[in-house]
Amino acid sequence: MKGVILAGGLGTRLHPLTLITNKHLLPIYNKPMILYPLETLRQSGLKEIMIVCGKEHGGDFMNFLGSGKEYGVKFSFALQDGPGGIAEALGLAENFADKGKIAVILGDNLFEESFSEEVEKFKSQDGAKVFVKEVNDPGRFGVAEVKGDRIVSIEEKPHKPKSNYAVTGFYLYNFDVFNKIKRLKPSERGELEITDVHTMYIQEGNLSYAFIDSFWSDAGTFESLLTASNRAAERMKNSNP
Ligand code: G1P
Repeated sequence: MKGVILAGGLGTRLHPLTLITNKHLLPIYNKPMILYPLETLRQSGLKEIMIVCGKEHGGDFMNFLGSGKEYGVKFSFALQDGPGGIAEALGLAENFADKGKIAVILGDNLFEESFSEEVEKFKSQDGAKVFVKEVNDPGRFGVAEVKGDRIVSIEEKPHKPKSNYAVTGFYLYNFDVFNKIKRLKPSERGELEITDVHTMYIQEGNLSYAFIDSFWSDAGTFESLLTASNRAAERMKNSNP
């Protein structure tokens, strides 16, 4: 299976930090943000990795990451012409996926667990799989309504969340995700939403999920960026006492 890191977007919630620097190159404690999702993919056994980013920052990502040799992986790059949303960015990875399944991670999502077992299991599964985490502020995320072993709905940044379960930014998809993306219509904010892709999988009865027990944070707001940095500093201190 191949992996994709989605590192597009304008990062407007982090202005002025992101006026000239891409969000995913900002520091989380001692390294640029993108190295964290890269590590998650690597530890999950994914060695062929595509980075999708906005065209203004393509050069920065290539300069910083190089071929992937230093990380024991092989990078490909795709450029998004404008801020068309996460699902549009993922659509650019269709040829790279080469008819196979893919693991996708949002470039501002920090996990402390590897998904290696999930990736192995998914090789013999169909549909899509998402990973949910109980949070205090679900309205910032895609929110899953869970009934038994099924997700029955996901709402993107709802005013009245139906649960505290945020859909995190690590996803496993069969190749049909690219057909689904082609059928999407832009949301009210003018973007192709990954949540709408998941809704299509729900309607087909083809979306599975698992809970995440360990730490998870995004880093797309000042507060979450600080939480993520503090957490990284803490972990560093504990591993080098
Ligand atoms: C995106 C997704 C959302 C998901 C979140 C996880 O939101 O649209 O469904 O819960 O990532 O970080 P964003 O933070 O890009 O607005």
